[in-house]
Amino acid sequence: MDEKNFENCLSNKIRTPYFTFVWAEDKNGLIGNDGQLPWHLPNEMKHFVNVTTGGVVIMGRKTYESIPNPPLKNRINIVLTNNKDYTADGAIVCHSKEDILDYVKDIDKPLHIIGGTSLFDMFVDDVNVLYRTVVYEEFEGDTFMPKLNYKYFQVVETMDGIVDEENLYSHEFFIYERKKLVNPFEKN
Ligand SMILES: NC(=O)c1ccc[n+]([C@@H]2O[C@H](COP(=O)([O-])OP(=O)(O)OC[C@H]3O[C@@H](n4cnc5c(N)ncnc54)[C@H](OP(=O)(O)O)[C@@H]3O)[C@@H](O)[C@H]2O)c1
Repeated sequence: MDEKNFENCLSNKIRTPYFTFVWAEDKNGLIGNDGQLPWHLPNEMKHFVNVTTGGVVIMGRKTYESIPNPPLKNRINIVLTNNKDYTADGAIVCHSKEDILDYVKDIDKPLHIIGGTSLFDMFVDDVNVLYRTVVYEEFEGDTFMPKLNYKYFQVVETMDGIVDEENLYSHEFFIYERKKLVNPFEKN
């Protein structure tokens, strides 16, 4: 399956806006090291761009600051921080989950939570789609994906990553859909 078809496999029950998680983890659930990704894997970056372009990307302040030349282009960028004086060029700054929900509720696009740990934790009951990449190696680092309860999700597509001279680590892309979809906007 190629990347284009890979992205088009969600059930027709999913209606925008809905939350997704988009992340890559190693064999131990590691996602970050010293403010950066633990690995160099251009295939995963391309996949990230394909999944998120045209949508909304929602991230913690440290993830925003890890992006070279932010904001992420062709996406609405939302950054969460406690700092009321924080400004982020080309991004919307929010200070709570309620701020985020209020801002996105009428946006007719996928709402991608792209990390880090506390953002994934914050939206764990709201997410309907998981874009998970597993890098089948063990890296050094300091930031981990929270444990997700995969029994609430089903795999709807998988795709092997291509290992080559630029992409040295074996990796695999998964898409999961929540078995019983949730509507986070109805709770509020
Ligand atoms: N592998 C992947 O897919 C992936 C994805 C994303 C990130 N990463 C990596 O993960 C690391 C960054 O993630 P992280 O978990 O350390 O940090 P993060 O979640 O990106 O940012 C944490 C910051 O978000 C703000 N924040 C969090 N919860 C908040 C709340 N309830 N209210 C207001 N503000 C809140 C705070 O900002 P203030 O301190 O400004 O108040 C907090 O310090 C980097 O190494 C990055 O490369 C990897």
